Amino acid sequence: MTVWTPTDNGHADLGSHDSFLSGAPYNTFKRLRDEDPMHWSDWSGGEGYWSVTRHEDIMKLNGQPQIMSSARGIRMEDQTYEEYLARRTFQETDNPDHMKSRIKLAKAFSKPVVAGFEQVIRDLTAPILDAALEKGSFDATKEIARQLPMRMLGRILGLPDEDLPWLVEKGDQLIANTDPDFTTHVLDRMTTDEFRMMPFNSPAGAELFVYAKDLLARQKKAGDTSGILHLLLQPGPDGTVMPENEFRNFFCLAVAAGNDTTRYSIAAGIQALAHQPELLGQMQAGGGVWETAPDEIIRWGSATTYFRRTAAQDFEFHGKHIKQGQKVLLWWASGNRDERAFEDPFRVNLFRTPNRHVSFGQGGPHVCLGMWLARLEVRILFEELAKRLKTIEPAGQQKFLRSNFIGGIKELPVTVTLQ
Ligand code: HEM
Repeated sequence: MTVWTPTDNGHADLGSHDSFLSGAPYNTFKRLRDEDPMHWSDWSGGEGYWSVTRHEDIMKLNGQPQIMSSARGIRMEDQTYEEYLARRTFQETDNPDHMKSRIKLAKAFSKPVVAGFEQVIRDLTAPILDAALEKGSFDATKEIARQLPMRMLGRILGLPDEDLPWLVEKGDQLIANTDPDFTTHVLDRMTTDEFRMMPFNSPAGAELFVYAKDLLARQKKAGDTSGILHLLLQPGPDGTVMPENEFRNFFCLAVAAGNDTTRYSIAAGIQALAHQPELLGQMQAGGGVWETAPDEIIRWGSATTYFRRTAAQDFEFHGKHIKQGQKVLLWWASGNRDERAFEDPFRVNLFRTPNRHVSFGQGGPHVCLGMWLARLEVRILFEELAKRLKTIEPAGQQKFLRSNFIGGIKELPVTVTLQ
């Protein structure tokens, strides 16, 4: 039994958010991988784009930042240079700028520093799970997956608990800006010109900027070192301290990048548990499964479907001529279902080894900074969930986010019985 089967007709318009309303159009990705692995699409929303869909090609091109620049934006939308400059974070820069910023953040997000938060995360997980599970039947995205990541990130960054629900809401507005369930400013349905200089073209970006500035001032005044934010403000190896605007941009990026991605990875894992009954027993047997299960859940979820690059020079690939300035999309979601790289890619195999998934943008200089945190969060959540569950089953239709950028199950009805 597979967890879920794609329903698209193999010719979905990848530039349309509506094409992702029933889940990612994996039949289209398969056709492109087989027939046209470097595929050009015209696009009604702006300049056309190339799609890279094979795992091997994604790894190859992601590892060549000299021809695949991040410094003109990472989403499909076109931006003027002025808009790009106003909205960019270090994720939208190339070396040497990129490395200068990344190096300041690397320690705070390193495996050993993040591992120190294990008990904090576990303590936070238990009451949320208990409250959800006692309902018997509930929406697992809303009651579990949506609740945890922002709270976990909040603890790690040292944010006050009372601010967390507000931050979850702002994070949603920022990144799910193409789904009317999450924002009043649906990006492709109305003119958002008013907000074009703000992160994600969204008013929530501006509010987060103000919040981050206040928070920094409060923490400085109180000498608060409970989270990792203060680490970011210590001088880097070159002796320089992160400027305030960079800190604010990073904060916005962390809220956006750490919130939805982990949420939808958790939702995808719960979806798998509900549809592939052997998984729960494998988790409950424990032991080695926890070495491999988090990455398999994160592969299965493919929470960010693509990131964009821009060709920094003309080059040839699969017989196609890519011109300088053209957009090239690396479809992680397609790479993660490539039969050339994964046996039985539509099955969740918690013991999959090796698991060379590309959910974190592996192989490139921008590989996810939060990956150790995401893995830890996913592991603890499923360890705690498996301890409590006797059974878990689907209880109605799942609904997907209207976004071709964030792959997510936004409603996941399940019924559970407990140990
Ligand atoms: C399962 C959850 C997650 C997934 C699937 C994910 C996915 C990704 C991907 C694909 C990239 C690479 C972007 C590129 O190549 O242009 C990335 C970068 C990044 N992620 Fe994550 N992410 C997750 C969790 C997190 C968390 C929890 C945080 C931390 C707060 C985070 C912070 C970042 C940052 C700051 C970058 C930019 C790194 C750079 O440009 O050097 N992510 N993420």
